[in-house]
This record gives sequence, C-alpha cells and structure tokens, in this order.
Amino acid sequence: RGPEAVSPTGSPTGAPATARAQSGQYLTTAQGLRLQDTDHSLKAGARGPILLQDHHLREKITHFDHERIPERVVHARGAGAHGVFRSYGTASKVTRAGFLAADVETPVFVRFSTVLGSRGSADAVRDTRGFSTKFYTDEGTYDLVGNNIPVFFIQDGMKFPDVVHAAKPHPDREIPQAQSAHDTFWDFVSLHTEAQAHTLWNMSDRGIPRSYRTMEGFGVHTFRLVNAAGDTTLVKFHWKPKQGVHSLVWEEAQIINGMDPDFHRRDLADAIEAGAYPEWELGIQTFPDTEDQMFQGIDLLDPTKFVPEELAPVQPIGLMTLNANPTNYFAETEQVAFHPGHLVPGIDVTNDPLLQVRLFSYLDTQISRLGGPNFAQIPINRPHAPVNDMLRDGMHQAAVHGGAAPYRPNSLDGGCPFLAGQDMGAFVDVPQAVAESIKERRNPASFDDHYSQARLFFRSLSSVEQDHVIQAYTFELGKCYESAVRERQLQALANIDAALCAAVAAGLGMPAPEATEQVPDRDPSPSVSQVGGTWPVA
Ligand code: HEM
Repeated sequence: RGPEAVSPTGSPTGAPATARAQSGQYLTTAQGLRLQDTDHSLKAGARGPILLQDHHLREKITHFDHERIPERVVHARGAGAHGVFRSYGTASKVTRAGFLAADVETPVFVRFSTVLGSRGSADAVRDTRGFSTKFYTDEGTYDLVGNNIPVFFIQDGMKFPDVVHAAKPHPDREIPQAQSAHDTFWDFVSLHTEAQAHTLWNMSDRGIPRSYRTMEGFGVHTFRLVNAAGDTTLVKFHWKPKQGVHSLVWEEAQIINGMDPDFHRRDLADAIEAGAYPEWELGIQTFPDTEDQMFQGIDLLDPTKFVPEELAPVQPIGLMTLNANPTNYFAETEQVAFHPGHLVPGIDVTNDPLLQVRLFSYLDTQISRLGGPNFAQIPINRPHAPVNDMLRDGMHQAAVHGGAAPYRPNSLDGGCPFLAGQDMGAFVDVPQAVAESIKERRNPASFDDHYSQARLFFRSLSSVEQDHVIQAYTFELGKCYESAVRERQLQALANIDAALCAAVAAGLGMPAPEATEQVPDRDPSPSVSQVGGTWPVA
C-alpha cells in the first residue's frame, strides 16, 4: 500500500491529525526506554571523561545535530496557513476539474515567501513574493505555485540559475544585494533586457507589500484547461485579495525590518488567530486555444508578458479563506513541497519554456531538500485522494508495502488492471501537435519586445507611485560601483520611458541617454482602472 490518504490538516481547524504533544508521565528514548536522568551524561566519576556507551546522550545529541534540513534554494523564507477553497462553479464550462465544479469545498495549504533572502532574513524587503497554494482535491493534489507579480524575469528556464546567482548574496562576502554592492543584479538585468518589466514591478510599491494578506497572486504562465467534452481554453490564474492591495513605503519598510523582521509572518498569524480570516478570490483570464497561442499581439507563451485586464477581464471562479495557523512550522511550512507539475484532470500545462523547466526543477530539488524520494508521505504533502503508485523503498520510506508484484498489469497479485478506453477520472495529456520539429536553441521572435509592458505598467501608475519607482531605481542603482552597469540600466530605462530615465539619471548625477528603440508618446488613453493602478490600452 502507498501512504494512507490521511488529511494533513485532519480537522477543520487545520491542526494536523498526526500532531504529537511530546508530553507524558515518562521521558523515554526514541526506542521507548524510560529514562531516569536527561540532565547529566554518563561519566567515569563526577569529574571524569564521558563514556561512549551513553546511548541516551549520543541519541539526543545526534538527533539535535541533524535537526536542520537544507533551506530552499530560492523562496527560503516563508509563512504558511491552512484554509478552504470554495468554488463558484463558474469555471465548469472550461474545465472538468472536480474541485472547480459548483460549490465544492477543498482544503488548502498556502505558503507565502520572499525569493532571495535566507530562512532568517527580514520580511519587509524589496523582493518578489511567492504565493503557493496546495489544493487537496479528491482527484489528487493540485498546486498553483505563483508570485505576487504577473510577469517573470526570464523567458527560458535555462537562465534561472543565472538570474538567481546574480541576485543572491555576493559569493565572496555573503552580503545580500540589498545591503551592499548591487552590481551583479543590475549587471544581469541590464544585459538581459527581458527582465526589465519584472524589475520595474520590483521597483514599484508592489515590491514591498504591506502584508501577505494584501497581495495579489498570479500563476504567471498560461495554462490549458480542458472541459468534459475535451475542448481546451488557455488561461492565466489570478488571486485577488478581499483585503485590497496595499504596500509599504520605503521608509516604513526600513524601520519595520529593523524593529520587527518577522512583520509579515506575525501579521498573517495574528490575523488568523484573531479570526480575521484573509480571503482571496481566484479568477481566470481566458483566451482561445489558437494554433499560434497569441492574444491581441501578446505571446501567451512568453512569461515576461501579462494580458491587461481590459483586454481579457478576470472572471471569478472561487473563494479561498485562510482560517488556521500551522501547528508546527517545520512539519508544515518548511516541509511542504509544491510543484507546478502537480496537476488534476482538467488543468494542463503549455509549452511556455519557463514552465517546462519548472516541471523538472521542483521534484529534483525536493529530493535533496527533503532527503530522498518519499517526501509525499510527509503529512503536509499527503494527498487526500487514495494513492496506489507502485513506488517502492527509498530513503525515509514510511509505508510497509505488501504484495509480491509491484508492477501492473500482473497475473499474480490481481487488481488494478488498466482499463483502456474507459474514463477512470484519470489525467489525460492534451493531445497537442508539436509545432516545430527542428531542434533549436532560440526564442521565437515574438519574445523580442522587452520594453512595452514595462512602459505600460509605469505609465499606469499615479504620480506618487511613479515617484516611488524613481526613488527606488535611484537608491538601488546608487549602490552600484560600476558606472558601466548604471549606464546600461539607464539605457534600458530610456527605452521604457524618457521621463523615468531622466529623473533617475538626475538622481544619480549622470546624463540621461537617448532611447535606442522607438518609445511611443505618453498617451495613457483609453484606460480602465484595475487594482493598484490604471491600465492604458497600448
Ligand atoms: C520555489 C525553481 C520559476 C514560484 C522554487 C524552488 C526551486 C524553484 C528549485 C525551491 C522549491 C523547494 O525547495 O521546494 C524555479 C525554476 C524556475 C522558477 C527553475 C524557472 C525555470 C518560478 C516562477 C514562479 C515561481 C515563474 C512564479 C510563477 C516559486 C515559489 C516557490 C518557488 C512560490 C516557493 C514554493 C514554496 O513556498 O515552497 N522554485 N522556479 N518560480 N518558486 Fe520557483
């Protein structure tokens, strides 16, 4: 048998069914042997050396020595909460996913995170935030592993180690970018201008959220939904906070990081404990699944692009309420393992080259982070759907599997024949033609526009918000020692918006370069308001 389909939350309050109080009349060893004394090691006389035969001492110290597991290579610092997702049923026409049918309630676990800091870093830093949701559905676990910014730094997952190496603390002094020289980060984003749109969101107030409760969430990539008839629709996922979208200003963030580095973590836990349960509406933008996978000139496979809401409104499909704090940070928030490849029937991936690499990366990293291939058996990761996976053995195997023939079909153990042609509620990959048959290392030409959406975002902001962006660029670029890096980033800003470039250049005491690309005039009309700003139609 595989691991039992036990609820990791176990109770409506989210307390794990497996929580063990670690209290009792006797203290014992891990083997259940009652202990008389855990305060003194066994010595050769009161002043003598400690004896190797002291099993209790060795067990206690050895276990302590191995208490830490590697932190996540990115998104190491996070805060989690349990909750429920109730679907409106409005997505039923486009997906057969059972948890999106009318009025279905599904338990969830959410982990919010910063990207770059270590596990012990401060909360209110300027950074992208992660927003991951695990839906424990009856058809298997579905993970929506998103961010609070709708576009990403890079277009091809091949570049993920590069952007992370450029942004992580310097390898010589291990000093975070935010505190010291910023040369490597700005070197990367000025050399890889596809990162300019995401960087502009980072430099905006979105980079310093007021609270995890006041963040939007975005699936970023385009996904493919499949309905009961097999029809497909391309979609982008959005989380809209019922609390509204709010940010800190830079000076507030500086003070908070000094006074209370756990500000966001505390805010989330306190709100839930007080019964002020945060809520988000899940919504989708839908696009026809055309052969070119383009929508109004936007390449839906390019993860550095979003689709403005007035071109494709976000349609609400359900409501998530976070209503319980974790019982144990390590067991739940630290050991939870999200994966964009955890899909359910009715939701499939696309050929977005960033998403395709993510499909490999998460399982791979978790094998090392969580000590082998059996981490799906950890309570927080256990599916609520029955498991019969034929996986055997391995590090940290907790299941005692029976049966003599761990393969299917077999003629010895019986059971579980593959019923070809029958609808077993199984996940079926969408039969998709592979567009090009020539092996190539290049992006399509439709990925080449690196500036128009950064411009769209900047020009959608109020003048106060634009000032914050200018101040953020001036402050951050002011920390670069290399003038060539600053000049190259100013060049990118010139290609986004001349006024933005001029203001940052003036702040740095440097000349503003001319644009090398065509920059349309500042004409924000017509525009339709959207959370956090006004979105001019290009
Ligand atoms: C975490 C890789 C792009 C959102 C991680 C982790 C890895 C990783 C290795 C650590 C996972 C763990 O230890 O459990 C990558 C790669 C990417 C990529 C290779 C590009 C090819 C993205 C994008 C998003 C994203 C585009 C948002 C849409 C997250 C989040 C987490 C995470 C939210 C934290 C999950 C948690 O809370 O446990 N990523 N990532 N990543 N990634 Fe990515």
